[in-house]
Amino acid sequence: MSRLRHLPATATSWTSEADVVVVGAGAAGLSAALAAGLARRRVLVLVKGGLVSGSTPLAQGGLAAVSLAEDSVDAHVADTVVAGAGLTNETVAREVVGAAPDALRRLREWGAHFDDGPPGLEGGHSFRRITHAGGDASGAEVHRTLRVALERARVEVWRDTVALDALVDDDGRVVGLLAGRVARSAEGAPVGALEVGTIRARAVVLATGGLGQVYDTTTNPFDVTGDGLALAARAGAALTHVEFVQFHPTVVYQTGRRGVAPLVTEALRGAGAVIVDVHGDAVMAGRHPRADLAPRDVVAVEMRRRMGEGDGPSTHLWLDATRVGASRLAREFPTVSAACRAIGIDPATEPIPVAPGAHYACGGVRATLDGATTVPGLYAVGEVAATGLHGANRLASNSLTEALITGRRLGEWLGSGDAVAERPGPGAPPAPGRGVDPRARAPLTRAMSAHAGVLRERTGLESLSEDLDRLGVAGPGPLDLATVEATNLHAVATLVARAALVREESRGCHRRRDCPEPRAAWERPVVLRTSRDAREVGVEASP
Ligand code: FAD
Ligand code: SIN
Repeated sequence: MSRLRHLPATATSWTSEADVVVVGAGAAGLSAALAAGLARRRVLVLVKGGLVSGSTPLAQGGLAAVSLAEDSVDAHVADTVVAGAGLTNETVAREVVGAAPDALRRLREWGAHFDDGPPGLEGGHSFRRITHAGGDASGAEVHRTLRVALERARVEVWRDTVALDALVDDDGRVVGLLAGRVARSAEGAPVGALEVGTIRARAVVLATGGLGQVYDTTTNPFDVTGDGLALAARAGAALTHVEFVQFHPTVVYQTGRRGVAPLVTEALRGAGAVIVDVHGDAVMAGRHPRADLAPRDVVAVEMRRRMGEGDGPSTHLWLDATRVGASRLAREFPTVSAACRAIGIDPATEPIPVAPGAHYACGGVRATLDGATTVPGLYAVGEVAATGLHGANRLASNSLTEALITGRRLGEWLGSGDAVAERPGPGAPPAPGRGVDPRARAPLTRAMSAHAGVLRERTGLESLSEDLDRLGVAGPGPLDLATVEATNLHAVATLVARAALVREESRGCHRRRDCPEPRAAWERPVVLRTSRDAREVGVEASP
């Protein structure tokens, strides 16, 4: 059926106002808030939990930007386009890749400390061009730098405040947000009902990151539940490329463990680590000219095949990093080394159990490089947005730079003269529904991993859609965070399943067993749009 469920009705108990509300405090949200704040807009940043949240602080590999004399913007664009498998917008790629060195320079000016020495190499890159910090703790340094700058700019941040739905006026313009304050226990767990209110705003910026939590195993943290994508869908925005979910090949595997799993950066393969099977044979040997450093979609699919066909376990393979050496592991890969030690593995002497895990949403809310979506007043930047840069598969380490660049562009635009001139009138959230029972979350993520993972096929995707239709509705009673997240995850799963069913070919990180080849006629985006009243997920454009 592919119908979205709406959040249950809830009474409001407070109101507020701002020029710009930014939802999310990752690289994209902080960059947008900072630029608009420096232009003296009244900016409000909402963040579901604490300020250190989202995927940004966890980023390991680093930031892709041309720095060596033998490299060029043309070469970086070409690698981005190859990874994007026919769906990258080359003009967009040129803009982002061309602006990446400047984004790094700006961070340095704000006090970021990046590592000295030659840049790193990751999958799909034909030159060394990955700048990192603290070895494999690059995102933490980017986030720290942005937080300090935000504090200096005195931008207001509301922690423990979750964006629920957009308020839309009669002309279809977003004029604010419905949001809920989250109460927490002494241990930090959300407790009780949300205290819901409205914020009237001239611009609402979605910077909510990806959707990894819709799968059983993911590198994404707990707060990354696809809220912005679900909110935009309910507001009637066009969404594109949502079928292209990138699975990172090397996510630490632990028997029986679900949810967030540590990443093993691709930079480790750049330093010589090799994916091996139960016999110690290199899985990527002879499978691609770049072997272990082939684009991620290629590596993840080869791993799944070997896990399905080999004589080893069907659950995982191994990453042999022993040849990297103990001192280099300690110096350049402290995050990975610590994650391995935490599960009793010494990566200097034994292989690390790994399997592909959900990592990055290549698609999202259709947006320009300045963050404009198809709904006036609603903007999207960072991982929640689909600008055309990543196409069907993101090139490693292109996303932090994209988030920094698009966030700043949008913030500067919102800070400029004409962008947010009018005072917004009244608006309303979408008609209420019954939401999704939080207990449905585990069956939902299991079904997504089984049917919309690295390899997909029609029958599985159809059965996933039926499963989603059957998931239980939320009980009566005040709205809580668990119900909001379950309802949003249901929306995300519905959208991914719909787009994956429509795209009857294999391309980038969307691989269908029943149609294993790319089809030239399908070198176009699938665009989904939901009418605010009907709730039916419509396919606005497809090949
Ligand atoms: P995020 O950083 O994910 O931030 C989202 C924010 O939105 C968070 O503050 C969250 O709490 C908040 N939020 C979500 N929903 C709501 C809501 N409803 N209300 C209020 N707040 C909300 N990319 C690279 O380029 N290089 C790398 O080396 C790299 N390594 C990675 C390693 C890991 C482990 C992961 C998970 C990702 C990695 N990526 C990397 C991808 C990259 O980190 C992300 O794409 C990028 O950080 C996304 O930034 P963002 O600002 O869009 O979202
Ligand atoms: C990694 O370090 O392997 C992740 C980089 C990325 O996702 O861009």
